[in-house]
Amino acid sequence: MRAVDRIDELRELVRGWRAAGERVGFVPTMGSLHEGHLSLLELARQRSQRVIVSIFVNPLQFGPGEDFERYPRMPEEDSRLLQVHRCDVLFNPSVAHMYPEGGVSATVVSVRPLSQILCGAVRPGHFDGVATVVARLFGIVQPDVAVFGEKDYQQLAVIRRMTEDLALPVEVIGAPTVRASDGLAMSSRNRYLAAAEREIAPKLYAMLQMLARRLMEGQREYAVLEEEGTRVLRDAGFAPDYVSIRDARTLEPPGAQCSEAVVLAAARLGRARLIDNLRVVLPND
Ligand code: PAJ
Repeated sequence: MRAVDRIDELRELVRGWRAAGERVGFVPTMGSLHEGHLSLLELARQRSQRVIVSIFVNPLQFGPGEDFERYPRMPEEDSRLLQVHRCDVLFNPSVAHMYPEGGVSATVVSVRPLSQILCGAVRPGHFDGVATVVARLFGIVQPDVAVFGEKDYQQLAVIRRMTEDLALPVEVIGAPTVRASDGLAMSSRNRYLAAAEREIAPKLYAMLQMLARRLMEGQREYAVLEEEGTRVLRDAGFAPDYVSIRDARTLEPPGAQCSEAVVLAAARLGRARLIDNLRVVLPND
């Protein structure tokens, strides 16, 4: 595996691969890699001859008072894992190289209203930061395919929409959520959980499963179900940001014609903010 921190060097490598007719797969990350990230790498590997993983903790997507400074960074361990999993290139640019104008981008990619609902309402500007960095990374890497996790369901929707609206020649693929054996979705931020909180954390997924069961049984009073989910989280010791049932395709409230819903939740637990979601095929009444 080669580690590259300069844009021109990465471009040159990709040019060579393309000239040889090889397809390029791309997995953007912020590092502190876990099995979820590695599953994306495997998927990219199945779809392309070459795989590039980026590790870049993107300041644009962190709000004031959020965890940019203390976001877990473990470069040696990440590099070792990528090597073992047959990554071709690790792209790990510095903030100064990605944003030469003092850590900011004059151009902002904003996917509205998708980026302003749910997590976007709680973290204003977050998805603009995500879309802007992913657009820039797509421009740098020029991949044929890029893989994103369904764990960040709204992020995946924002990126799909951006890619479509800007006609970017990248195939965006969603990958299933990788979970610990007790159901907790893997996340770099799980490292923030104290031992007692780690015991509570799987109750987030258990709550999503409970709401999914209700939906499969034919319950359609979404507001009542959301309220119940929020109460369950609060009783377990979470501080919920939202529990929301949406159309899985549009992320809008489900209409009468909706055939697949997604139950999404975000909640703070100690120093961590956890998000998770579960898709549900709605039975025809
Ligand atoms: P990060 O949180 O490092 O996640 C990188 C990718 O891994 C994302 O596509 C995310 O959805 C996926 N992922 C995380 N946990 C997962 C899990 N348990 N199962 C499957 N996939 C999982 O998301 C970001 O970084 C950033 O916002 C980024 C897209 C890199 C832009 O800065």
